Amino acid sequence: MTATPVCRICGGTLHEFFDFGRQPIADAFVDPAGEQEEFFHRLAVGMCTSCTMVQLLEDVPRERMFRTDYPYLSSLSSAMREHFRTTARHFLDTELRDANDLLVEFGSNDGIMLDTVHRAGRRHLGVEPSTDVAEAAAAKGIRVRNAFFEEETAADIADREGTAKVIYAANTFSHISYVDSVFRGVDALLAPDGVFVFEDPYMADIIERTSFDQIYDEHFYFFSVRSVQAMAAHHGFELVDAAPLPVHGGEIRYTVARPGVRVPSPAVGRFLEREKAARIAEPDTLARFGAHVDEVRDALRAQLERCRDQGRTVVGYGATAKSSTLTNYCGIGPDLVSFIVDSTPAKQGKLSPGSHIPVRAPEAFSRPYPDYALLFAWNHAEEIMRKENAFREQGGRWILYVPGVHTV
Ligand code: SAM
Ligand code: TMP
Ligand code: ZN
Repeated sequence: MTATPVCRICGGTLHEFFDFGRQPIADAFVDPAGEQEEFFHRLAVGMCTSCTMVQLLEDVPRERMFRTDYPYLSSLSSAMREHFRTTARHFLDTELRDANDLLVEFGSNDGIMLDTVHRAGRRHLGVEPSTDVAEAAAAKGIRVRNAFFEEETAADIADREGTAKVIYAANTFSHISYVDSVFRGVDALLAPDGVFVFEDPYMADIIERTSFDQIYDEHFYFFSVRSVQAMAAHHGFELVDAAPLPVHGGEIRYTVARPGVRVPSPAVGRFLEREKAARIAEPDTLARFGAHVDEVRDALRAQLERCRDQGRTVVGYGATAKSSTLTNYCGIGPDLVSFIVDSTPAKQGKLSPGSHIPVRAPEAFSRPYPDYALLFAWNHAEEIMRKENAFREQGGRWILYVPGVHTV
C-alpha cells in the first residue's frame, strides 16, 4: 500500500474531501470456517486541484483485488447481458468494418461482451487477470489472455496480433491506478485510426445521488468529462465523444482517439458546460456531498434500528462490492441485517467483508419472506424487483438508500 499525496494523473495537489476510515477489500468475502486475517486499508477520496480527477488517496496492491478467486461474474444480470450485446453489435456495425479488424477488451470478465463478437466470428482478444472469470470466458470459446492490461501486455499483443481497431474496457479502466502504463499500452496497440472506448461510473451522478457506496478499493478514479479530457490530453490522446449510459447508477462511455484523427462530437462540449454549471469540481460541492453521506448513514441506521426494535425482519439483497463501504461505514452488521441473498455461487456460504453478514442463495429470500429487504444492488432494481414481484405482493417492502433513504 502506498500513500498518494499527489494526483496520479498530472502530479497536481490533491484536495481530500472524504475519509471512510479503515475498510476491507470490497470483494474479499470471508470464509466463516477459515482463519485468514482480513486486509484493511484507509479509504479516502480527493480531487486534484489542477486536472480535477477524483481519486483514492491510497491504492491497494492489485493482486489483492484481482486474483484467482475474484467473485464478480458480469453475466449474472440479464439487463447487463443486453447492454453488452448492444455494445458489441455497435462495434460490429461501426468500427470493425474490415473482416480482419481486431477488438481487444481488457477486464473482459466472463466474456459478457466478447461473446457476441466471438459468435459473429470476428477477431477478438480479452485481457483478464482474474483467473476464475477468465476461465469462464475461455470455456465459451472466447480468446482470453490471463494478464493485467498494461504497457508490456499491450506491446506483446501488438507484436503477435497486429494493431487493434477497438480497445474497450467497461467498469475496469477506472479501477486501474497506473493509467500511464495503460496509455502507453494503448499507444502501442491501437491502430492509427482506432478508438479506445471505456465506460465507468460518472462523478456527477455520484454527487447528485449521493451514491457514496461507489467508493471502494476497486474504484480508484471517479471520472468526469473534464477530468477524462485532461487525462487523455496528458497522455497524448484526444477525447472525441462522451455518451451517457443508464447502467450501474449512471455512467459515461468515453471515446478516445489519436489527436486530429476523429472530429470531436459536440456532446463533449455540452457535458463540459453542464459540469461547470453543476460545479462538480468545486470544494464546496464536495463538502456538501460529504455532509449528505453522513445524512444517509444516519437515516439508514435509524430506519434499520426502528425495524429491529419493532421486531421486523430485514434481509439484504445483493452482496455487492458497493455494500462493503455502506455496511462498514454505517456500522451495519448481522444485528440489523440478518443475511444477504446473492446469486453468485462464490459468495454464498461466506460472510460479507468487514461487516460479517452471512451470504445465502436467493432461495433463502422467500423462506419465509422478511418484512423488509435492503436493496444493496440498487443499480439492478428494475430487474430484481420484477423477478421478486411476489415479495411486495405479499406485503414486503424494499428499503433503498439511493437517492436518499426511502421504502417502496
Ligand atoms: N467488464 C466487466 C463488466 O463491466 O461487467 C467486468 C467489470 S469488473 C468490475 C472489473 C474487471 O477488471 C475484473 O474482472 C478484473 O479482474 C479486471 N481487471 C482489473 N485490473 C485489470 C487490468 N489491469 N487489466 C485487465 N483487467 C483488469
Ligand atoms: P453489481 O452491483 O456490482 O453489479 O453487483 C450485483 C450483485 O448482486 C452481484 O453479486 C450479483 C447480485 N445479483 C443478484 O443476487 N440477483 C440479481 O438478480 C442480480 C441482477 C444481481
Ligand atoms: Zn491531476
